[in-house]
Amino acid sequence: MSKTATIEIDGKKYEFPIIEGSENEEAIDIKKLRELTGIITLDPGYKNSGSCTSKITFLDGELGILRYRGYSIEDLAEKADFLETSYLLIFGELPTADQLEQFENDIRKYTLVNEEMKSIIDGFPKTAHPMGVLAALTSALTAFNPKSVNVDNEKEMYQAVCKTMGKFLVIATWTYRKSMGFPLNYYDNTKGYVENFMELMFKLPTEPYKASPIIIEALDKLFILHADHEQNCSTSTVRMVGSSHAGLFASISAGVSALWGPLHGGANQAVLEMLEEIYKNGGDTDAYLAKAKDKNDPFRLMGFGHRVYKSFDPRAQIIKKAANEVLATLGVDDPILAIAKKLEVAALEDEYFKSRNLYPNVDFYSGIIYRALGIPTDMFTVMFAIGRLPGWIAQWKEMRENKEPIGRPRQIYTGAALRDFKKPQ
Ligand code: SDX
Repeated sequence: MSKTATIEIDGKKYEFPIIEGSENEEAIDIKKLRELTGIITLDPGYKNSGSCTSKITFLDGELGILRYRGYSIEDLAEKADFLETSYLLIFGELPTADQLEQFENDIRKYTLVNEEMKSIIDGFPKTAHPMGVLAALTSALTAFNPKSVNVDNEKEMYQAVCKTMGKFLVIATWTYRKSMGFPLNYYDNTKGYVENFMELMFKLPTEPYKASPIIIEALDKLFILHADHEQNCSTSTVRMVGSSHAGLFASISAGVSALWGPLHGGANQAVLEMLEEIYKNGGDTDAYLAKAKDKNDPFRLMGFGHRVYKSFDPRAQIIKKAANEVLATLGVDDPILAIAKKLEVAALEDEYFKSRNLYPNVDFYSGIIYRALGIPTDMFTVMFAIGRLPGWIAQWKEMRENKEPIGRPRQIYTGAALRDFKKPQ
């Protein structure tokens, strides 16, 4: 006998089924609520509302659990690589060695970006934020790939996946090259995906370049940690835009814009700017904690708090450990890391943060590693987008394969009642 929920309105009782997920999460299925009662729910920020069922990622905010297709983030970060994890998220199973090699080779078929895209990027000032350029270039890819993918055609969908994985990485690095006035690089199909990221970013035509294996390994792990996170703001945006049957590039472009916000992916850049400010002002972390707690001060402790995690973000734990290892291996002594650790200890002991379950999230330490790897601060959120790309693709693909209806929330109107049209005197 399946469980139900009863809602009583004006003395009349209505029963709604309770559905249960594979990890025992439960939801009241209110698909017929308005039809039966004429009433809707209201839930700003969707803090209590599920938008879909999904088989891709499971997280438990209370227990600090994160799994992609059932595999723990700890196992994947330690034992898999980024393309392997991307394949898992998108197609549902870990690839065999042959499948992984084929996937990487099929991505290589699409790593050449149409040369006319260069005239689009040339339209931007060097000072343009890389996330704004990336959103525009991603949408512009539609101009060169106008045929929208038939998601029911496995071959077409697979090609669209490989095309997106191939081209997005290149144009993401072009945003940096543009800001530096450097020539735009091409993907080298003889090298790996993450090694190509480093070459695309930093290789100059005037001298030989060899990316450090330590940096490649650290970045690969960081991309895995960012690869998906169920229905976060940018992923929900990708699903929403895709639900109108807009194309994959257009949907990903919308996701890039949503991720840019400082409350979401833009937080990794904001964390570094905050830590640098604290450092410049003498390292007085207590003063900044006081600002974060002051309701009259808009300042928030960036990299702290999370809509879902009300205990440690498991990714933050892994990144913190990696930050120590990478900086030690590279011999980088970054005083910002010491500020971050001091801030973390102080916040975790502070009643305001403890009572609100505010812990370091994925963005708190990632910027410290990126900085040690030579990534410029305003590229940090682009790094997040590169990592999140397979998750966006997987979620978009699942939404379309499930033939989900176009997203169209309702509202409660609180504006003016009907009034006659009179021009103001
Ligand atoms: C990401 O959703 C995802 O999965 C996102 C992400 C992913 O992988 O896709 O995990 C990536 O976006 C991580 C979050 C990065 N953002 C930041 O680090 C920005 C700083 N954090 C906050 O802005 C905030 O914590 C949010 C936006 C992340 C979550 O906010 P919520 O869930 O809407 O919580 P809230 O704003 O209602 O805050 C609850 C209370 C409030 O105080 P009271 O009104 O109860 O007195 O906690 C306070 C808030 O003022 N609070 C903070 C705080 N975060 C929440 N106070 C100071 N500093 C903070 N960082």
